[in-house]
Amino acid sequence: MQVVSSIVDLEQILTHQHTKMALVPTMGALHEGHLSLVEIAKSKAGFVMVSIFVNPLQFGPNEDFTKYPRDLRSDLGKLAGLGVDLVFAPEVADIYQSKPKEIMANPQLANILCGLSRPGHFDGVCTVVYRLFELMNPSFAIFGEKDYQQLMIIQDMVKSYKLAVEIVPAPIIRESSGLALSSRNQYLSDSQKLAAANIHQVLKRFANDEIDINFARDFLSKLGIELEYLEKHFARTYIAAKVGSTRLIDNV
Ligand code: PAJ
Repeated sequence: MQVVSSIVDLEQILTHQHTKMALVPTMGALHEGHLSLVEIAKSKAGFVMVSIFVNPLQFGPNEDFTKYPRDLRSDLGKLAGLGVDLVFAPEVADIYQSKPKEIMANPQLANILCGLSRPGHFDGVCTVVYRLFELMNPSFAIFGEKDYQQLMIIQDMVKSYKLAVEIVPAPIIRESSGLALSSRNQYLSDSQKLAAANIHQVLKRFANDEIDINFARDFLSKLGIELEYLEKHFARTYIAAKVGSTRLIDNV
């Protein structure tokens, strides 16, 4: 497994690469959800790449960019032995040394759900993913359904810019409690983690029309969880809620 941080080194390796490549873009703090994407990447292409980059453009001014968990050594340990060929772990200066082409997420998809409380977030995601595609030239890129709105926005971007990459969706990996795995679960105390499992329960019950939004909001509130949204769009149901200061999302 080769690990590079500079674009020059990346390009050096990729010019000698003639088999089809699959990319798993991540922000690190890897967990079983990310690793399941790597497995899918392996089934798609002979050369598997993982990018690890905490993208400042997609964090709002009051969000967790500075405290977002970063542990490259532990991430590389998790990837070693999985059959990953290349890890690209650049610094902010590597990615944005020249002004990146700014990509705007399709407003019809970006101005709902997470886009409302995180203005500019999906533009930041599109800009970095476009840049990674440009630098790494994958034939396949794997995105988790955990971030379903992100997945739809990236699919839309690929279509509008006619990019030669196939976006491959990956199912959500959960704990046995139902809690969707997330790098941000690291912020939760044990008791918060127990409470957070109710987010998925409420989501499922709302999706099945067993409860309404008011019941959901009160129920979560009694557990110390603040509901941000619980809505149905495009034949799916989406939730975002805050456990303390940790914002979690899920969908079914
Ligand atoms: P990150 O949150 O690190 O997630 C990287 C990929 O892992 C995303 O496609 C996400 O949907 C997927 N993922 C996370 N948790 C998952 C789970 N429990 N089950 C399945 N897949 C899961 O999403 C980002 O990073 C960034 O926005 C990025 C696309 C890298 C751009 O900066």
